[in-house]
Amino acid sequence: MYRIINADITAVLFGRSDKLKKYVSASVLSADLLNLEDEIRRLEQSKIDMLHFDVMDGLFVNNITYGLPVLKAIRKVTDLTLDVHLMIQDPMRYVGRFAEYGADYISFHIESDGNTTETLTDIKNSGAKAALAIKPATPAESVYDYLPYLDMVLVMTVEPGFGGQSFMPETIEKVKKIKQKITELGLDVLIQVDGGINAETAKIASEAGANVLVSGSYLFKADDMASAAEKLKEGSSE
Ligand code: DX5
Ligand code: ZN
Repeated sequence: MYRIINADITAVLFGRSDKLKKYVSASVLSADLLNLEDEIRRLEQSKIDMLHFDVMDGLFVNNITYGLPVLKAIRKVTDLTLDVHLMIQDPMRYVGRFAEYGADYISFHIESDGNTTETLTDIKNSGAKAALAIKPATPAESVYDYLPYLDMVLVMTVEPGFGGQSFMPETIEKVKKIKQKITELGLDVLIQVDGGINAETAKIASEAGANVLVSGSYLFKADDMASAAEKLKEGSSE
């Protein structure tokens, strides 16, 4: 008993308790796609927590990326947590297959078509963890009713569609509000931020309550990916 309490205190003092834990999710949109397996090894060696896989259908956003067969191929070569971000118009139609093909987390947008509750239920039934994503113009309040059913909320900090954009500071107020609501409800829901995340903006987002930091261009352009990931985790998460 004493040892457990002592370990808890040590974890809190050194910022290692689960509550304070932060994760980095690397967006492979910025990877060298022709050498994806090498890039995956680089993520593993750099102790990156998750691989962020952006699926765009040219309808929900004005860009097309990759989908199911690529996810399946990635799943075959790595045990990394696969964090799939669906920027597609009809997520309900596909969530089951993304889970089957290896997704650990599946995020879909509240602004997309289909029934949000049913889509969340489908994700849960398929065994994956469920996340709801909101675009910069969508209010924080729109996710409140769904919080008890979520593993994660994804707050977009740029307009979805492309990597390499600049962080939008006005989105941070939403992270704070969602964090406050999660605490109020006593839930264990992660908050992910995605878009324009670098050492500086990660600190701002972490201080607001974000604990999953998606990063594409900042991580993949870094000479030393492991130390870049460490820098992302440096800011507070409370
Ligand atoms: C944008 C994507 C992001 C993007 C992040 O629509 O959802 O995941 O790849 O890339 P950076 O970190 O370069 O903004
Ligand atoms: Zn994304």
